[in-house]
Amino acid sequence: MLGTTLPAVVAIFAAATLLAAQTPASAETLLERGGYLTKSVAACGRCHTPRDGNSNPIAGMELAGGAEFTEPGTGHVVAPNITPDRETGIGRWTQAQIVNAIRNGVRPDGTIIGPPMPFSAYDDLSDRDVTAIAAYLRTVKPIRHAVPKSQYTMTLPTSHGPTVTHVEEPRHDDRIAYGAYLAGPVAHCIGCHTPLREGGQQLDRKRAFSGGRQLHPYGQPGVLVMSRNVTPDPEDGVGKWSDAEIKRATTAGIRPDGTRLSPAMPYPWYKGLRAADLDAMIAYLRTVPPQKNVE
Ligand code: HEC
Ligand code: HEC
Repeated sequence: MLGTTLPAVVAIFAAATLLAAQTPASAETLLERGGYLTKSVAACGRCHTPRDGNSNPIAGMELAGGAEFTEPGTGHVVAPNITPDRETGIGRWTQAQIVNAIRNGVRPDGTIIGPPMPFSAYDDLSDRDVTAIAAYLRTVKPIRHAVPKSQYTMTLPTSHGPTVTHVEEPRHDDRIAYGAYLAGPVAHCIGCHTPLREGGQQLDRKRAFSGGRQLHPYGQPGVLVMSRNVTPDPEDGVGKWSDAEIKRATTAGIRPDGTRLSPAMPYPWYKGLRAADLDAMIAYLRTVPPQKNVE
């Protein structure tokens, strides 16, 4: 018996290995997709993972909550524990409830989730991507870590807009459109790199990617870092940078002149970006209107 079945098993195994090696990236499972987006592109941990005094993410505490800051006009904000711990995290939430929280900013008990969780970006996540993130979150290691609730001094809206239940999958074969999707709804590069409209909290999209936002690196109270102009302007933006230079700044936090970026720029997460996705985002950034810095 053994003598006859073994070679067949080996042959099947060899064929399966071959198949796996040839499987294109698009055939990744839902959980693989969710893990990649959560840990790299969407960088949920840039807010939901506690950071040390140098603003670097604390190892072993991924997504366990605790990044906090105080902002005049907003209040004292704490990013919650989103690991599946049943007492201190979201372990009692269903996948559909997590999807609704990410997209629409509503918790299972009906309360509204406040800023800066970026709903204006996440309501454009495709059905597959938001489901993948929710499914993945339910599989990460539960971490028991109680964090205080946010204390908003601003009045939260009663909703973050019409309830979103369906968003088509973007075309992955249109590099610029897919790069716009990654740099917009998923990674939200636009959120930190675009100035706000005067007197408001809305992004000034006419000046998209021209930088100039003052951001708090979490974990470093009192420190303010200004986001940079990443439009193709040759003087003020990154127009003269090569693709490789933009990649190094984005994934390693090192500029062409060798100086280092503050981890207020989430490169500790972006180091896991896939080459094709970085290419798509850079190709898209090269198409946005060049802008000058506004003094
Ligand atoms: C810019 C910071 C930021 C980013 C990025 C961010 N979040 Fe949040 N998130 C928050 C804050 C702050 C809250 C809590 C707001 C409040 O207290 O009402 C929150 C709340 C949540 C909640 C509700 C948890 C609860 O117990 O109320 C979930 C679920 C969640 N985020 C998931 C995610 C996922 C998944 C991602 C990545 C796709 C993500 N967040 C990215 C800041 C962020
Ligand atoms: C949480 C806010 C935030 C997000 C999200 C963000 N950035 Fe940044 N980025 C910054 C800040 C702040 C700086 C400047 C840091 C410094 O000067 O030390 C910066 C700097 C950069 C630089 C260097 C520019 C220069 O002139 O030095 C590049 C390139 C860049 N970001 C690209 C990106 C891309 C691409 C994405 C999306 C994948 C992105 N950023 C998402 C905050 C952010």
